[in-house]
Amino acid sequence: MKQFASVHDVVDLDSLVAQAIRYKNDPLADRSLGTGKRIGLLFLNPSLRTRLSTQVAAQNLGMEAIVFNVGQDGWALEFEEHTVMNGTTVEHIKDAAPVLSLYFDILAIRTFPSLKDREADYGEHVLSQFIRYAGIPVVSLESATLHPLQSLADLITIQETWRSGNRPKIVLTWAPHVKPLPQCVANSFSEWMTHWGGCDFTIAHPEGMELADRFTKCATITHDQKKALREADYIYVKNWSSYAQYGRLKTDHAEWMLTQEHLYPSRNARVMHCLPVRRNVELSDEVLDGANSLVTQQAGNRVWAAQSVLSEILKKL
Ligand code: CP
Repeated sequence: MKQFASVHDVVDLDSLVAQAIRYKNDPLADRSLGTGKRIGLLFLNPSLRTRLSTQVAAQNLGMEAIVFNVGQDGWALEFEEHTVMNGTTVEHIKDAAPVLSLYFDILAIRTFPSLKDREADYGEHVLSQFIRYAGIPVVSLESATLHPLQSLADLITIQETWRSGNRPKIVLTWAPHVKPLPQCVANSFSEWMTHWGGCDFTIAHPEGMELADRFTKCATITHDQKKALREADYIYVKNWSSYAQYGRLKTDHAEWMLTQEHLYPSRNARVMHCLPVRRNVELSDEVLDGANSLVTQQAGNRVWAAQSVLSEILKKL
């Protein structure tokens, strides 16, 4: 693997998951693979899970991991071509990225969307320039439109908890929120479910909250949350802001919050969320604290997802 920005960079999805599960059982199995190698973890936005799990993963492989909070500690970066830099930005990505590539063997970047300019966000204006100008392997720690490390951890979690020979019915359901959030997790989860192909996949959301077509082609889309959940084996709860009215917060539909009443005892569905979660806005306490919640297991699997990806990249260095 030369970079990891989406599921399209994965050569063999089943092997990547199997390797992650092997690392979960034996974290230090490849502890010398990254000896003498260094990864730079650059954050333009806050993080708990992504930051710490990727550091642990790198260290399990014998790499040195250095975190840099670009958004707080770095010079304000400029991403526009041919701009006159007489404003607030101090350093152009064209100058910064080649320098970073001298310090590190792998660069990992977290960016967020503006949620104002859909064309720039969906063109991955920031991540694509790191990839273009760094010239070393780049790993997305969440970009403007996708969160592939989260999706890999989600897939690991489903595969390790699904015991039946049948395909699981997986429902991604929109949840209310108090601020506009990116579509990244939902886009990415949809894309990974499509590529995996091992499930029956439905997306439930209120009217007007459609995701971009390109990510949801193989999903069944419904506005009937109750019916979708009644048939689910896995319920992935996530808010996203509007794609059509780009970045718009949907303030009504509080009834879409997942509560115990949404769970049908006959299905015994497992509940997923990427975290951080707004309790009693997106999901009720009783669901999050209940026996069917997989949220902590998902977050734990972020280590093995990152370790499996870094391992694939290290093997090609
Ligand atoms: N799920 C996730 O990416 O969490 P963080 O934002 O804390 O990294």
